[in-house]
Amino acid sequence: MSDTMTIEMRGISKSFGETLANDGIDFTVGSGEIHVLLGENGAGKTTLMNILFGHVRPDEGAILVNGDEVEITAPNDAISHGIGMVHQHFSLVPSFTVAENVMLGVKRVTDPSFGEETIEKEVSQRADELNMPITPDATVQDLPVDVQQRVEIIKAMYRGAKTLILDEPTSLLGPTQIENLLGILSQLRDRGTSIILVTHKLAEVMEAADKVTVLRRGKVITSMAKGAFDERTLARAMTGHDRERLPDRSEASGAARRPLLEINDLVVPATHGHGLAIEGLSLVVQSGEILGIAGVEGNGQRELVDALMGLATPGSGTVLVDGVEVTNADPHDRRGAGMGVIPEDRHRLGLILDMSLAENLAVADLASGRYRRRGMIDWKAVHQNAERLLVDYDVRPADPDAAAASLSGGNQQKVVLARELAREPRVLVADNPSWGLDVGAIDYVHLKLLEMRGRGGAVLLVTLDLEELYKLSDRILVIYRGKKMLEGPTSEIDDDDLALAMVGRSTR
Ligand SMILES: Nc1ncnc2c1ncn2[C@@H]1O[C@H](COP(=O)(O)OP(=O)(O)OP(=O)(O)O)[C@@H](O)[C@H]1O
Ligand SMILES: [Mg+2]
Repeated sequence: MSDTMTIEMRGISKSFGETLANDGIDFTVGSGEIHVLLGENGAGKTTLMNILFGHVRPDEGAILVNGDEVEITAPNDAISHGIGMVHQHFSLVPSFTVAENVMLGVKRVTDPSFGEETIEKEVSQRADELNMPITPDATVQDLPVDVQQRVEIIKAMYRGAKTLILDEPTSLLGPTQIENLLGILSQLRDRGTSIILVTHKLAEVMEAADKVTVLRRGKVITSMAKGAFDERTLARAMTGHDRERLPDRSEASGAARRPLLEINDLVVPATHGHGLAIEGLSLVVQSGEILGIAGVEGNGQRELVDALMGLATPGSGTVLVDGVEVTNADPHDRRGAGMGVIPEDRHRLGLILDMSLAENLAVADLASGRYRRRGMIDWKAVHQNAERLLVDYDVRPADPDAAAASLSGGNQQKVVLARELAREPRVLVADNPSWGLDVGAIDYVHLKLLEMRGRGGAVLLVTLDLEELYKLSDRILVIYRGKKMLEGPTSEIDDDDLALAMVGRSTR
């Protein structure tokens, strides 16, 4: 195999039932370029990459590597042709060490040379060569998400990847981690590796892309080289129209403000490891207010949201929704008190993947009896409700009978949103509500959160995305190692205050 590599996908088509996910796609990736694949939720990006990596078989089309047609029917074929993939949901074995994970599948565990010291040395050497130092004997589950991702990259490179596919690798990362990843990718590019980067974030495209290919509804709309595009042309190419402007932010309806969410001296033990993830946190969100929680990933945000959802038991402290204590209430009673939650991980907590969209949209209300008629579930009402919500929230396909598992990532997120917001909760906990969404859908989510604020609801927005934080929050609270580091009105907190507080330094 030569050192450089060109990949050509020609006339690729793939349908799932009635959905034409890829419609005659031509896609060429040259040697040593960062090629961004851009498109709205459901445009067909993951499908195309799954075809290239051998997870999915196309109905039509051919794949050429360095001009020769190749058969890719399984990931192993792709790997043998020098194609590697870093999945959004990592495929590492959590209880294995870094070195074991990298070696797994390359060397048999029973191979005498699979000795701890040899593989650790080998992996560490390879990682250093790639300029991605790691601790080879660390256990993967103890590593932060960005380091786990680096292990995935090293693993793919160790298998000889000359073209590396990354499907939305930045959606789980904070700003500094994103910078680091983009740095790693450009270094790999400079050494001749081709990178295919799937992302929704236009700022990342502007920073990293040598070329961009835009998909819309399964077709290639355009393919451009650096210099030929800016954020606006890209957004236009993706959606077919200009971005909608958010309404000017009015003062939230002044009608007597009252605290809707109160957290007093909350203590929550860490999910992983020992100690406390939240250490005596107090905050209040008023009616008509959005409080943004900022912080570097892993400073207690996950545990805070878990405690609010009833998934983690606080060690002490209280949580009140509109004056009613829900500290230890079950999820049903929390909802009853007026709380809604948009969880970050829609797979873990958001959707039941093998159920239909109609069932997913109704699931919380089925228990409460809303859809009961003479003791029976009124499936017609469930269906009609779903039809309306799917259209309102622009879910594609807007088919109540489709299985949740068959939707693209972004469309799944829209279903979770529709379900939570349709109930018009008084208090909404939104944990990174726009991750994985395309620009159009992000605008839509932001609009919905602002609408809720306008109605006098309270929103606790936990986000790693600083643009989102500044745009939506009335006040900002920075959390560092489970404690409040900084709190104030958004207008009084500048980038420096925020950055320092996020690394635990106080400016005031
Ligand atoms: N296994 C499947 N069964 C049925 N339909 C599917 C399946 N996989 C994908 N689809 C459909 O194909 C279309 C393209 O999906 P794909 O996951 O490729 O989109 P995407 O561009 O990656 O979107 P996102 O940005 O939301 O991840 C969607 O309409 C999706 O519902
Ligand atoms: Mg996708």
